[in-house]
Amino acid sequence: QKHLLGIKNINREDIELIFETAASFKEVINRPIKKVPSLRDITIANVFFENSTRTKLSFELAEKRLSADVVNFSSSNSSVKKGETLLDTVNNILAMKVDMVVMRHSSPGAPHFLAKHIDANIVNAGDGTHEHPTQALLDTFSIYQRHGSLEGLKVAIIGDILHSRVALSNIFALKKLGAEVMVCGPNTLLPKYISSLDIKVELDVRKALQWCDVANVLRIQLERQHIKYFPSLREYSLYYGINKKLLDSLDKQITIMHPGPINRGVELNSDVADSDHAIILEQVENGVAVRMAVLYLLAGVQ
Ligand code: CP
Repeated sequence: QKHLLGIKNINREDIELIFETAASFKEVINRPIKKVPSLRDITIANVFFENSTRTKLSFELAEKRLSADVVNFSSSNSSVKKGETLLDTVNNILAMKVDMVVMRHSSPGAPHFLAKHIDANIVNAGDGTHEHPTQALLDTFSIYQRHGSLEGLKVAIIGDILHSRVALSNIFALKKLGAEVMVCGPNTLLPKYISSLDIKVELDVRKALQWCDVANVLRIQLERQHIKYFPSLREYSLYYGINKKLLDSLDKQITIMHPGPINRGVELNSDVADSDHAIILEQVENGVAVRMAVLYLLAGVQ
């Protein structure tokens, strides 16, 4: 494939090849000399039309560890503010002899639109409420490293599913890898399309936690909620917030994940986020190796 636009259109073998490649790169970046020359002749632009901490830095580090040349673009301090279009912006960046574009955009489908109009490789770093493929790859890679296999593993995705691109990409990846998937949240934060995905739906967080081996906890995405929403943050934390007392009351140990950023005290309390149950920083660590694998494999088919 030339692009990574989403998980929906890649298959299990693609994901397993990314995992295998990521495992090798993870060994590389844990060595004193963390760099390999694999993408020495490649120039990559990280084009971000939406805020990011983890994804942006993780891609930049992945590119640098692969010895690519890197340029970073942020729409907030660019000529987009003067009215320049997405296509003009990217075409101008490509005119400077850029080979690959990593793009985050608030509009679902923006990278798919670009893929039809430009000649470079595109990696979707999150398009609105649609997909966040590298997040799903690093999440499932982290589960794979922790549990050895995803086949038959029970994974609950808990929180604001409606506004989450992480949820949709994770559902696709988990199902392709043989996991059983459940989403859990208040009815108002579950999208209508969920019934078409052949996954379990649970409104009660305690029942979801009691069912699962792994809980991937998502934040309430206030920036995407244009109407007054229910529940409020206070109500959400009361009915869905995950804390140590709740986990201790279960008769099992589960792995807690979160893609970040965490709204501490809302969806996750610090006594869980910072505990041995959580693999949140392992996810971030694995993100660099997984993104190295994605960039390396895409560059190979230019
Ligand atoms: N997980 C994630 O996408 O985080 P950022 O928004 O900080 O990139």
